[in-house]
Amino acid sequence: MGQPVVVELGSGTGAFSRTIQERLDGRGRHIAFDVNERFTALLAERFAGLDAVTADARDVSTILAERGLGQADAIISGLPWASFRHDRQRELLDAVVDALSPQGAFTTFAYVHARRSIPARRFRRSLADRFEEVVLGRTVWANLPPALVYHCRRPQP
Ligand SMILES: C[S@@+](CC[C@H](N)C(=O)[O-])C[C@H]1O[C@@H](n2cnc3c(N)ncnc32)[C@H](O)[C@@H]1O
Repeated sequence: MGQPVVVELGSGTGAFSRTIQERLDGRGRHIAFDVNERFTALLAERFAGLDAVTADARDVSTILAERGLGQADAIISGLPWASFRHDRQRELLDAVVDALSPQGAFTTFAYVHARRSIPARRFRRSLADRFEEVVLGRTVWANLPPALVYHCRRPQP
């Protein structure tokens, strides 16, 4: 992929942003969303190649369109899915599916300790409803707290 459009949701203090910037190595576009403007200001200062936007992840398609961009090739999420109410989870996941190209990939994480909670189980079902392929990646034990990674492909609008 020559010039990929990569979207990061809930970019926070930039633990994923650094890796995305390294992988892009000056190619494509990297748009990072967070509702907290202290975090987006920090990322804008830290990474010259990153477009840090203070906005809600539900507005991802609108913000891509404002930049003359179509759907994203990859969406990487640091959003705390298990802490969202059901309707909010649905709203945000629908926004992800709308903003992702048919060949695009959505990567997100969940905390291991919360994986049996009702919101976490509901989230997994919502992923399965919206993507043809959902693969559970390895557990990142080094993360504090340990986390699981979901790799989702072929969004089903
Ligand atoms: C778990 S933290 C971020 C993890 C991130 N990888 C890091 O390195 O800090 C979740 C982030 O999501 C942001 N957030 C929560 N709800 C959001 C929403 N609806 N849209 C955009 N950002 C949101 C929070 O402000 C917070 O910075």
